[in-house]
Order: sequence, then structure tokens, then C-alpha cells
Amino acid sequence: MATTTQPIGLMGAAADPRPFTVPDFQAVKVRGERLTVLTAYDYTMARLFDAAGVDCLLVGDSLGMVVQGLETPLSVTVDEMIYHARLVTRGARRCLVVVDMPFMSYQVSPQQAVENAGRIIKETGAHAVKLEGGVRTVPAIEAILSADIPVMGHVGLTPQSVNRLGGFRVQRDEEAILEDALALEKAGVFAVVIECVPSEVARKITAALKVPTIGIGAGPGCDGQVLVAHDMLGLFDEIKPRFVKQYAELGDLILRAAADYCRDVRQGTFPGPEHGFR
Ligand code: KIV
Repeated sequence: MATTTQPIGLMGAAADPRPFTVPDFQAVKVRGERLTVLTAYDYTMARLFDAAGVDCLLVGDSLGMVVQGLETPLSVTVDEMIYHARLVTRGARRCLVVVDMPFMSYQVSPQQAVENAGRIIKETGAHAVKLEGGVRTVPAIEAILSADIPVMGHVGLTPQSVNRLGGFRVQRDEEAILEDALALEKAGVFAVVIECVPSEVARKITAALKVPTIGIGAGPGCDGQVLVAHDMLGLFDEIKPRFVKQYAELGDLILRAAADYCRDVRQGTFPGPEHGFR
């Protein structure tokens, strides 16, 4: 396809260089259009996604799994999130950057929540934070919002609750998930991620909320979609969730490129005379 072969800078961002803002989320829902969100953890990837025209980059605590090699996101720290968020904001010219608040950075008290959210925004230049959980998370969200820090909510499968949930499983309690989503909207979040719930449940929640819903494993009825970049690019093969559409096989490409490099160096075909200085 012609668009995928254009160089960086000639794609989405150049076509519409205005920064994508928190109010734009609502405007997109009102217009009946769809929001695009991808996770990003570093400068290079953020720059590419920004140039491709992605609306919002999520510095997800999924980095615990796909960058750090952990089994769950539970041990990711605020300092680690700040480190990665800094790299992402450096590469994002247009995208809205949202940063996950990691496990135990907001659960202790509303004061702890607003202090950590404040650090994340001040030290990274990101625009908003995301917290997992519904009704129980409302006091933390209200405290953060009182400091004028926009908050994205997250219901359904909340990976930080993996030990209580007994694994990364589809969540089916429609009443509880809807109650959580409505509580988040009432508290003032600007969008709600709905993760791993039956498509019909996500569709009903999307119809019930005025703020946009961003689905992942939640079917086609949400106002937008988020995917973990490493999953959609084929970079991470340890878990392959059914809901992921893989848009590239970068893992295979990298493997082949590195193997070719090793072969050339061992055979003495790289570096050649053209790679040296006179
Ligand atoms: O951590 C993350 O990447 C997320 C998305 C999967 C929504 O929370």
C-alpha cells in the first residue's frame, strides 16, 4: 500500500499537525468517529506512531511484560513509568500521551494518588494518567482531577488485579462492569478503557456513557481501540491474545536481520571497504 511506504513525516502527523487534546476525545465520540490508541515505551516507537497519525499513545504498565520480561505488571514502579514516559513524550509531536499509574502508586490514599500523578505529569510532559478499577478508585481519581490532571479510567480485566482475578481472564459480570464505568464517568474521567469483556457488554457500556470507551478485547462496539504495540507488530510471542490483530511480523524480520548480520561479520563480508574511513 502506498501509504505504508511513505517516509516518516509525510503521513498522518503532517496532514494534521494540531496536537490531539483531551477535549478532542469527546469531540471524536460526538462526531461518531473512532479513536486510535497504541502503547509506546520509547522515543523511536513514539515518533513512528505519531507520524502514522495515531491519536493517543499509552505508556502502559504492560511494559513490565513486553519490555522488562516480567510475568505481570505488578512490580513496575513510578520511577520506571516516568523514565519510559519521558522517552515517549520526546518522540510525540501530535499524540496525546497518557501514562499508566502502576500498582500501589494510587491505592494507598487519595493523597498518594495525587502526589504520584503530579510527579508523572511534571517530570515527563505527558498529558494525562490512567488508573485501573471502578467504584473503588473514585476517591483517587477525584483527588487527581482536583489538581487538573486528566484521568483515563480502565474497567473489565484490570491486569493489576491479576492475583484476585486468578489470571488474565475475560470478565463477564455485566452489572458490576457497567456500575464501575458509570462511577468513573461521574467522577470525571475523559475516557474509559474496557478490557476483555464480551462484545455485547462493551457495546452496552459504550451506549450508556457520554465519554468515549476504548476497547481491547472488547469487540467492535467501542468508540476507539487500543492495542499493545508489541502484540500488533509481532514483536512479542510469549502470549498471543485472541483479540489481537497482528499488522506486522517484526519479530521475524529482526531475527533474520540479526542472523544475516552475524553471518556477514563471521564471513568477513561486513564491514566492506565502503564502510570504513580513508
Ligand atoms: O498497560 C497497558 O498497556 C494497558 C492497555 C492494555 C490498555 O493498560
